[in-house]
Amino acid sequence: MGTIEHDQGEAQYSIKKEALPPIETVYNPHSLEYCEDPVPQWHELVKRGPLVWYPLWQAWIMTGIKDIMDCWRTEYLSSDFYDWEYAPPRPPESEWTNFERALIGHSLVADKDHHRLVRKVSSPAFSRNVVEAISMRIEPDIKALFDELGTPDSFDYIEKVAAHIPFISITRIVGIPEKYWDDFKPVVTSFTEAWNPTISEERRQKAREDSNRAIDIIQEVIAERRLMPRQDDFLSALIQVEKENEQFREWDIITMVLALIGAGADTTLIAQQWSVYSLLKNRDQIAEALESPEAFGKAFTEMMRWSANSKMGFARYAPEDMELLGQKVRKGQMVLLMPHLKDYDPQYYTEPEKFNMNRSHDKDVLFGYGPRFCIGAALAKRQLFLSLSELFARFPDAELAYEPERDETDHNSIAFKQLVIKTNIQK
Ligand code: HEM
Repeated sequence: MGTIEHDQGEAQYSIKKEALPPIETVYNPHSLEYCEDPVPQWHELVKRGPLVWYPLWQAWIMTGIKDIMDCWRTEYLSSDFYDWEYAPPRPPESEWTNFERALIGHSLVADKDHHRLVRKVSSPAFSRNVVEAISMRIEPDIKALFDELGTPDSFDYIEKVAAHIPFISITRIVGIPEKYWDDFKPVVTSFTEAWNPTISEERRQKAREDSNRAIDIIQEVIAERRLMPRQDDFLSALIQVEKENEQFREWDIITMVLALIGAGADTTLIAQQWSVYSLLKNRDQIAEALESPEAFGKAFTEMMRWSANSKMGFARYAPEDMELLGQKVRKGQMVLLMPHLKDYDPQYYTEPEKFNMNRSHDKDVLFGYGPRFCIGAALAKRQLFLSLSELFARFPDAELAYEPERDETDHNSIAFKQLVIKTNIQK
């Protein structure tokens, strides 16, 4: 195991680095080897110091959790995709389509001050009461999915359950009525690709076109909602925030809705797979983990730690030429924050390979930290709690039919090709 001694002087890092093979020969998140067991490759990264240049992605990788938390908290790096050296040029305002208006004009991602204002004024829309009310709306959808499934001897959890939950719950959470779902689904699923730095410009362009269509639909839904009484969803809550705050306009609502969809869909799909897998592999902890939403919240961080499924981390961009953690970073270069690198480090976790839902996670940064802490954390946990509770209530003796094959194609996380569950029900 490589040491993480971030307090050491740069000189000691250089001595170690010289003896090590180039990082691209020992670290490749696109490889099947990584998907089978990423931990040795994480150790290789950490061994090379606090900021490692990774030529395959033309990006720096920040490896130390204290440094990452400092970056999260103080935001000295930019979150704006258009600050990336390889991003397309930022178009002038006269050429903006709705997509640019949502993502440049009133962006959650771009302007730091506006971002803080949006988070502050919109916080009532994400209060405990709203989250509770929204959770109640997701529950019948989850039950309906299991009703439709029936009582088979075995089934693929991803195909039958996990794949449907993110879209259903995000549209319910936001408040997009069912009559729009057929039009909305094909154009929102590629939304996160619109600013993904690791895919082709052609694919990003297609995602931008889809996003423009999605924005048209969101505008239609907002106009309709303005004429209706208040409902239990984010759209109604955000329209209320707009009424009470002059600086919060319709474009802020649109941006927020897009951000919720973008940040809440892929993440929960991956989390569904790995939380079910973790509990099936650690059956002795199922009952305790599902005892209450609070118990699940704690267990969930351990599920995500133990399952080691991260690949890319979180992208930031250097706003200017800078000296950072002993390296010269050029304006526009990408810096990837990888908090998951601590997850199998014995400095932070004793016996990291053991799943123990009662571990303490100090600090728990699964949902980020500081001004950009995840807006959907409570909802994500509740949605997963409801799905897993339903799964084990209906199939208390469920087990893995066989060890699932890993899918190396997802750019952001390690996923499974299938997750086949044997129900073991007595018929
Ligand atoms: C297991 C599921 C999830 C995980 C692990 C997760 C994790 C995170 C993390 C680490 C960040 C910070 C990213 C950064 O610093 O660049 C974040 C941001 C965010 N998340 Fe989540 N998230 C999850 C689910 C959700 C859901 C369901 C929603 C929406 C309902 C959501 C909405 C957001 C939004 C809007 C942001 C951006 C916040 C901002 O920039 O102010 N997330 N999430």
